[in-house]
Amino acid sequence: MAVWDIASRLLGLLLLFHTWRAWAVVEVEMEDIVEVFRGDTAQIYCKFTSEDGIGAIDIVWFYTARTGDRQKIYFQDSTMKLVDRGTPFTDRISVNGTGANGVVVLTINEVKLKDELEFICFIKSLTDGKGEGRTKLRVFETPKFPTIDAVRTGISVSETGLSKIGVCDVKNGFPKPNVTWYRDNTPLHNVPDEVKVISSTTTESSGLFSVKSELSLQVTKEDKDAEFYCEVNYFVPGETRMTETNRINITVHYPATAVSLWVESPKGKIKEGDSIEFHCHDNGNSASSFTITDERGDPIEESKVLKNVTRRNNGVYNCNSLDLETGEEISANTTVVVNFLDPAVVIPEDIAVVALGKGLTATCNALSSLPTSTAWFKNGKEIFKGHTLTLRNATFDTTGTYVCVVTVPDIDGMETSGTLQVNVKGPPEIERPDNTEIEESVETSVHLSCSVRGFPAPIVNWTTSDGKVHDSKSKLTGEGVQSEVSFKVTSDVTAVCNAFNEHGTDTVAFHIKTTIHTTTQATNTTSTTISSTTVKGATDIQIKKEGNGVVIPVIIICVLLLALLGSVLYFFYKKGKICGRSGKQDLTKEKSSKDNIVVEMKSDNTEEAILLGVNGEKLSPSD
Ligand SMILES: *[C@@H]1O[C@H](CO)[C@@H](O)[C@H](O)[C@H]1NC(C)=O
Ligand SMILES: *[C@@H]1O[C@H](CO)[C@@H](O)[C@H](O)[C@H]1NC(C)=O
Repeated sequence: MAVWDIASRLLGLLLLFHTWRAWAVVEVEMEDIVEVFRGDTAQIYCKFTSEDGIGAIDIVWFYTARTGDRQKIYFQDSTMKLVDRGTPFTDRISVNGTGANGVVVLTINEVKLKDELEFICFIKSLTDGKGEGRTKLRVFETPKFPTIDAVRTGISVSETGLSKIGVCDVKNGFPKPNVTWYRDNTPLHNVPDEVKVISSTTTESSGLFSVKSELSLQVTKEDKDAEFYCEVNYFVPGETRMTETNRINITVHYPATAVSLWVESPKGKIKEGDSIEFHCHDNGNSASSFTITDERGDPIEESKVLKNVTRRNNGVYNCNSLDLETGEEISANTTVVVNFLDPAVVIPEDIAVVALGKGLTATCNALSSLPTSTAWFKNGKEIFKGHTLTLRNATFDTTGTYVCVVTVPDIDGMETSGTLQVNVKGPPEIERPDNTEIEESVETSVHLSCSVRGFPAPIVNWTTSDGKVHDSKSKLTGEGVQSEVSFKVTSDVTAVCNAFNEHGTDTVAFHIKTTIHTTTQATNTTSTTISSTTVKGATDIQIKKEGNGVVIPVIIICVLLLALLGSVLYFFYKKGKICGRSGKQDLTKEKSSKDNIVVEMKSDNTEEAILLGVNGEKLSPSD
């Protein structure tokens, strides 16, 4: 029994031992994947658990070759660290850590594309057995910015089959980037007979990938406005990224389905004399030629301009568009209306004569293709709006030139005009002057005028109270006659302006009072009289000059005469002394008269002075 007991106890211990061994396998924990950019440094962690101390553990790193074999690259135990020689990693790896804390790190410098492998961390414990873990290394390279090239030549929608639109290129990515074409914002996928995308991948000598993608389409008219571009998707550590190319346009040729013809200028209504510019346009964009023809089918010159049009240019004009590619023709037309305004016709024509107090009706019309409006003007002022002008109860004020202006309100600057001279038949009517009482110096010229209204134009003559008829100057005014006369006055006189025509006469009298002026007063009186009258005499400046010019010689002559007289008197005095007392009395008388003479001479003109002087001298001997 005791033996059995011992045996069963040993078995139990063996079982226990066995179980414990199984439980005590080395556990290795590693990341599935480590991602890193080419050229960067990769770190692969290897965590393990073991009861054994560091002294009882071997650490070995392998990688799995493409053949499936594992290749050892590193070995480490308590005594040494050994990088295997002759592997692709010999110079680029190191392992940090002794494993004492259950972690070692494999560091790979300057990661290469070929390093994209599986790395194995193998742990062997003296008592606990062994264990291993695996990590895949992923390597990335960001591709260059993608480019896009559009087909330069235009593409016609009438082309059968697919047409190449453009090519996108993305270079040097790893792993292989994806290229997707977009039209506007919609991705394009292969659709038989509509869309075809061909992608080709090139592996560069560096191991990087370049992708080229070519898009072909069955082009439609709508594609003329479409924007095409490529989207490139690529992986980087931990994520995917996206870039887009520039947008491109393609030139789409499509035949016209409609054409239109219009008058580009003038805008709005056309009038005679205008130049008409036609425009013809179709909705296609393929090359086409346009021909514009008039109603008779004659082509309009190259410039498509009709110069100086008249109503004879009215009609339907046609534009023909010929597609140079397909030879298809389409046409359109437009109707041209050239508006006109004929010269104004005024009735009565040119001149109308109306009797005083009577009325007159005049019309003014101009033929036009459009409604017109008429206005009448006199002396630049608008007096009436309308075709028919009625003048009632005519007076001489009615006389004058009437202008009618016909305009077309719809077209700026389209107008014509006519005139009518209205004369009011009646006897002369002399405009009363402000002043008919005129003072004037003797021997000066008087200048008179009178304005006469009346029709037919009155005849005017001038007569004076002394029975003379004077030559006058007459000129026709709008309303009648203006007559002027000039004559020299010698004495008070009445001048009469006589006007007459077949209907009667009218007169106006001017009373002219002559003034005889003395030397001292002459300048003053003459000038004031003239300036206060409406009718002008001879100029006062002349009179003043005459006065001054005369006074000085007169004084000189007087002095000489006095000297002469003195000597004569002295002579008589001497003689009288000899003759007796009677001479003495005469002498005193003569002296006083001599004084009078001097005074008179001073205040009078030459002739009188000489006359008096002579008389004075004559008086004394006669006495
Ligand atoms: C493409 O054409 C459209 C319409 O003609 C225009 O609006 C747009 O600016 C163009 N885009 C490019 C990139 O040329
Ligand atoms: C590229 O396309 C493939 C196949 O559709 C896909 O599996 C991959 O994830 C794409 N790559 C990117 C970066 O999106």
